[in-house]
Amino acid sequence: MAKLIGKNRIKTAVFISGNGSNLKSLIFFSKKKISPIQISLVISNNKRARGLNYAKKYKINKFSIIYKNKKNADFLILKKLKKNNIKLILLAGFMKILSKNFIISFKHPILNIHPSLLPKYKGLNTHERVIKNNEKFTGCTVHMVNKKLDSGKIILRKKIKIYKKDDAKTLEKRVLKQEHKLYPKAIGKFLSNL
Ligand code: GAR
Repeated sequence: MAKLIGKNRIKTAVFISGNGSNLKSLIFFSKKKISPIQISLVISNNKRARGLNYAKKYKINKFSIIYKNKKNADFLILKKLKKNNIKLILLAGFMKILSKNFIISFKHPILNIHPSLLPKYKGLNTHERVIKNNEKFTGCTVHMVNKKLDSGKIILRKKIKIYKKDDAKTLEKRVLKQEHKLYPKAIGKFLSNL
């Protein structure tokens, strides 16, 4: 990983759709001396995403895209990524499914954070489903993105206990707190194994 520190930090794009609390923690991580990444671009499918304010605050290039026509959206995003020399994509609460074509065309790694202990609870509304099924544990997972939803190679997971008093809201909050620690850790692990 030493070779990625300093000027050689890997140029990274973070994709978001909403609050961007993971984006915020990734920005903090990228500013650490030992960080292997430099966040050069934030992409959102929603121009009202609250997370875009972090891009503004930290003067990171940002780009919102309307997903009416997926092919066109893919094309425009790929163009932006190329222009910014992006070598790593981090999905952080990005609620669109990347097309197979996009995944094949972007020749560099794509990572995602998912709010469950994959391979359990792929897809949406994980916390509601976990509570409904009376699970004893849940957590979050950082994994590589491949052509199948939430199914790429797992890099790291963090498990937490579910208490009787928990509901989907309290779980969301507690899992999110862990996500903010897990994503930077997983990026470090992933890049040091390249
Ligand atoms: C996070 O919990 C993330 O794991 C999840 O959306 C939330 C975004 O929060 N992602 C998915 O569900 C992807 N399928 P944030 O905008 O505050 O980072």
